[in-house]
Amino acid sequence: MKPTDNPKTYRVKSFGCQMNVYDGERMAELLATRGITPAPEGEDADLVVLNTCHIREKAAEKVYSDIGRLVKAGEARGRKPLIAVAGCVAQAEGEEIMARAPAVSMVVGPQAYHRLPDMLDRAVAGERGTDTDMPAIAKFASLPDRRKSPPATFLTIQEGCDKFCTYCVVPYTRGAEISRPFADLLTEARKLVEAGAREITLLGQNVSAWSGEDDKGHRQGLAGLVRALARIDGLARIRYTTSHPADMDEDIIAAHGEVDKLMPFLHLPVQAGSDRVLKAMNRSHTVESYLKLLDRFRAARPDLALSGDFIVGFPGETESEFEQTLALVDAVGYAQAFSFKYSPRPGTPAATMDGQVAPDIMDERLQRLQAAINRDQFAFNRNSVGRTCEVLIERRGKRPGQWLGKSPWLQSVWFEGDCAIGDLVEVELAEAGPNSMRGAPRAAIAA
Ligand code: 5AD
Ligand code: SF4
Repeated sequence: MKPTDNPKTYRVKSFGCQMNVYDGERMAELLATRGITPAPEGEDADLVVLNTCHIREKAAEKVYSDIGRLVKAGEARGRKPLIAVAGCVAQAEGEEIMARAPAVSMVVGPQAYHRLPDMLDRAVAGERGTDTDMPAIAKFASLPDRRKSPPATFLTIQEGCDKFCTYCVVPYTRGAEISRPFADLLTEARKLVEAGAREITLLGQNVSAWSGEDDKGHRQGLAGLVRALARIDGLARIRYTTSHPADMDEDIIAAHGEVDKLMPFLHLPVQAGSDRVLKAMNRSHTVESYLKLLDRFRAARPDLALSGDFIVGFPGETESEFEQTLALVDAVGYAQAFSFKYSPRPGTPAATMDGQVAPDIMDERLQRLQAAINRDQFAFNRNSVGRTCEVLIERRGKRPGQWLGKSPWLQSVWFEGDCAIGDLVEVELAEAGPNSMRGAPRAAIAA
């Protein structure tokens, strides 16, 4: 490979979960410290980072079609871009990518991307490189501070997962559970607030497993961290995602009742409504224990909005077991939820289980489940009409004078008024749509 010019513009394309969105933003900042600027919209970039997701097969295959498209566009333009593959596909299939896609010059895993600038120097000199080391969370110390933050932003507090659900690649791609230190998180959260954040979502594959020592040397869990963050002036809202039912303790339940800044929203994946399937998935909860847990949360915070993740067509799932998932959805009444067709991931125990479900059956089950979830989401929105709440404005709407933001229950709310991005506006939820609410503003709330 011949040496290339230094790239002047970059584009980071993130797929998959919010952890990837977060990592993608951090990579963009790293590149910016090198004087590389974001490529203007509609223009090809000199350097493209594909920040990939490996959770389902479709997501992983996308990488190769994207690389193909970038190469073609580069040929047409007479200058091929430098391509870096980052994220979980890089971690899981680094060598395969290097062999299968000669156009890729850098492969960098989720725990190694702080070394992207060095890899870039070598790539410019014509050297291809792979870095998929998993050092214990060294990268955070090497990342630049965020000088400007959107009003609603993310903070990774934990990475990795020790749960080993039998369908899931995360314990392999993201490694063992590691918590970032308490003091680092408080410092970073304060800086984010100074940089403009009003809402912080604490991120991790398994945030409920976060633990650390506070400034007095006391061991704290997620609830302790939330309480400490809530004391930061200027921070108005705290959320967290994703949590596991097995790690939700009394303390975090109580925090939902006591900490005003902790938003009344809980994303708590259940995956299926049949105890046999849950056991085969190596989920450590039953339907009953999950429902009891939700009752305790609702007792602490009666207006809590619930969200979840579901998989249909796990190996061996029968029609009646799937109907138990529908029954669970009916029983909970989710404000929103994500549902996926089971996708066999190489190296996971479920991939070789008997009873793989036919694609057409999975399609049909997914449709029925999504119809039930959509119905409940619309019902939740309709039941919210008449409520007055604060909306944090995140961006402008399509029409002039129109604003978009989130309610405390994570509904998208749009309204018209004289305000600005980052304002917390008191709004009456006036009209419900299936995916959003129209609000009528009452008054802008001072910062
Ligand atoms: N197939 C389908 N869905 C999966 N998820 C994780 N692994 C798989 C898989 N192999 C879903 C789970 C998880 C969400 C992030 O993705 O529902 O909670
Ligand atoms: Fe994957 Fe299960 Fe860990 Fe979630 S809890 S990341 S589904 S192994």
